Amino acid sequence: MSVTIKSNREIELMREAGKILCQVHEELEKAIRPGISTKDIDRLGRELIKSYGCEPSFLNYNGYPAAICVSVNDEVVHGIPNKKHILHEGDIVSLDAGVIYKGYHSDAARTHAVGEISQEAKRLIDVTKESFFEGMKYAKAGNHLFDISRAIQKYVEANGFSVVRDLVGHGIGKNLHEEPQIPNFKQIGRGMRLQPGMTLAIEPMVNAGAYDVWWLEDDWTVVTQDGSLSAHYENTVLITEGEPELLSLPAFR
Ligand code: MF3
Ligand code: CO
Repeated sequence: MSVTIKSNREIELMREAGKILCQVHEELEKAIRPGISTKDIDRLGRELIKSYGCEPSFLNYNGYPAAICVSVNDEVVHGIPNKKHILHEGDIVSLDAGVIYKGYHSDAARTHAVGEISQEAKRLIDVTKESFFEGMKYAKAGNHLFDISRAIQKYVEANGFSVVRDLVGHGIGKNLHEEPQIPNFKQIGRGMRLQPGMTLAIEPMVNAGAYDVWWLEDDWTVVTQDGSLSAHYENTVLITEGEPELLSLPAFR
């Protein structure tokens, strides 16, 4: 399958999916506090997604057992919710969620502080989010895909952190994962030309220490090899002739 250009009708559905997903994230953020379990977060997320008439994109995707990926501290992505995993003051928690609305997916991730966190942890969360917006400066028709990748990496490394290599962003639409793959680090060449109507999930994963990760025995949870903290920030984005439209962050339109 190759990269799909979405029709106006498809874009309208993806806008609605993104708007709902943004609301789900806002609600989830309010629930983050010391004492809540990662399973509680998943349960709430699942209920919220259903309450908007959507299906969770991730539940049962390649066997993933939850609606929300909840990744704490050195967990990079794809943490599996567990009632025994309780959030504590000082933790950071990445929430990754996807919804399907009338057959179309939206995918977004945010990293939150649990109570008071260290200055370094706060800086990691901020730099990760800011790196996404650095990438957005290049996310427009006529530019090339890897211009985004390069901008993200440059910003992250200038701030002393590192970009995960083993996981990438992706096209999105009728499927959660479509072409192209979108690395958050420099590639050979500039990659494909961006065209209006492309919808992309751009998702920097940033480690406070080295970029190396490995997978836990559960075959899902990705953790930093050096035990350093990791943060994740993602939105579903529509490429246009001008500014990108952040479908899962509609306030930015
Ligand atoms: N945002 C992640 C991704 O794009 C979420 C996938 S989790 C999975 O790959 F469980 F669905 F695989
Ligand atoms: Co994604």
